[in-house]
Amino acid sequence: MNSLQVNLPGREYDIDIGLNILEKQLPEAVLRNGTDHVVVVTNTTLQELYPACIFDVLADSGVRVSTCVLPDGEQYKNLETLSLVFDFLMNVSANRKTLLVAFGGGVIGDMAGFAASTFVRGIPFIQVPTTLLSDVDSSVGGKTAVNHPLGKNTIGSFKQPEYVCIELSFLKTLPSRELKAGYMELLKHGLIQDADFFNFTQQHSLEPLDFDYLEQAIFRSCKIKGRVVEQDETEKGLRANLNFGHTLGHLIETHAGYGKYLHGEAVGAGMCFAAFVSWRWKELAQNEWEVISNTLRQYLQPIKLENLDFEIFNDLILHDKKANKQAVNFILLKKLGESFIQQETAVEKLWEEFKLFTTKFPEIVELE
Ligand SMILES: NC(=O)c1ccc[n+]([C@@H]2O[C@H](COP(=O)([O-])OP(=O)(O)OC[C@H]3O[C@@H](n4cnc5c(N)ncnc54)[C@H](O)[C@@H]3O)[C@@H](O)[C@H]2O)c1
Ligand SMILES: [Zn+2]
Repeated sequence: MNSLQVNLPGREYDIDIGLNILEKQLPEAVLRNGTDHVVVVTNTTLQELYPACIFDVLADSGVRVSTCVLPDGEQYKNLETLSLVFDFLMNVSANRKTLLVAFGGGVIGDMAGFAASTFVRGIPFIQVPTTLLSDVDSSVGGKTAVNHPLGKNTIGSFKQPEYVCIELSFLKTLPSRELKAGYMELLKHGLIQDADFFNFTQQHSLEPLDFDYLEQAIFRSCKIKGRVVEQDETEKGLRANLNFGHTLGHLIETHAGYGKYLHGEAVGAGMCFAAFVSWRWKELAQNEWEVISNTLRQYLQPIKLENLDFEIFNDLILHDKKANKQAVNFILLKKLGESFIQQETAVEKLWEEFKLFTTKFPEIVELE
């Protein structure tokens, strides 16, 4: 098992990563919290694959365990589904001392976290991520949110978990497409901060699963994210680097309809585009652009976008039809392992690059 701590003053927490660790680590964390009631938030898919998993793991802990099962999918990451969590919490008489356990991927983690941050003005929660994406990214750092029809993750809050238990055995049932999508966020951490880590990933393959490699890679990925979050928890500056690939990624998810492409797939295409722009704008060397795009392409799915013109592109990026400044902060790469925030990048310039990108690489993103 590997462990690290996220050191935020007064809200520090441990992240444990390993194979077959849940049974020992989770009850200990629950006992440390001192609660007598745990509410597990999960979805129908996990409930079917791992019935009563958390309930069983906590069976000897002397705590009451209630399980709230939500429908599965990004299209349910909204206020309506969130209110089901609140209904459930009210029905089981949850109170300030109730501990929430998010058992699922990033969608469950984001919704359970948001519920924990708002129910009776905040209750503690633990993350038990079950997808590669949530192992390496969404379970760490305390961003929680639901989607609005007009914008991804637009309704949310910052709420750090009490503890994160990354049990690697759950990856055995994760479909290959989900694994690849999650790998994008892991590679992202190398691309923006740590060339050594990126090179380490180049020496291994994602499939078939190699748990020694995954434990190392997830540990290093969480460490990179944790250090960024420690320096800039609420994204005043530095943390925005973690949004590398997400400007286009979120646009793809919103425009195509939530759930059509996976978050990691959309972000992967967005990272490829951002690397392309970095090269075009003479920040990134050609050989590095080639290494990066060849690596990402191994995991990408072709994305097709219908009826996308400049006006829609602009609105989706700005989230505000009447915005005065038609500009965004866009994350570029200076080199492999170093990103920076390009303040006030004109959306029109990005659109020009995007059109060129789709003409050159229709197998990555195609406009229809
Ligand atoms: N909060 C953050 O900092 C942050 C960071 C990155 C992404 N996100 C969010 O995370 C979400 C994406 O997360 P995700 O990729 O985990 O998607 P997800 O939660 O939708 O999970 C993907 C699919 O895999 C299934 N699944 C989960 N665990 C499984 C397992 N062990 N075996 C088989 N199937 C399993 C799920 O039921 C779902 O169908 C997006 O909404 C994104 O916005 C948040
Ligand atoms: Zn992401």
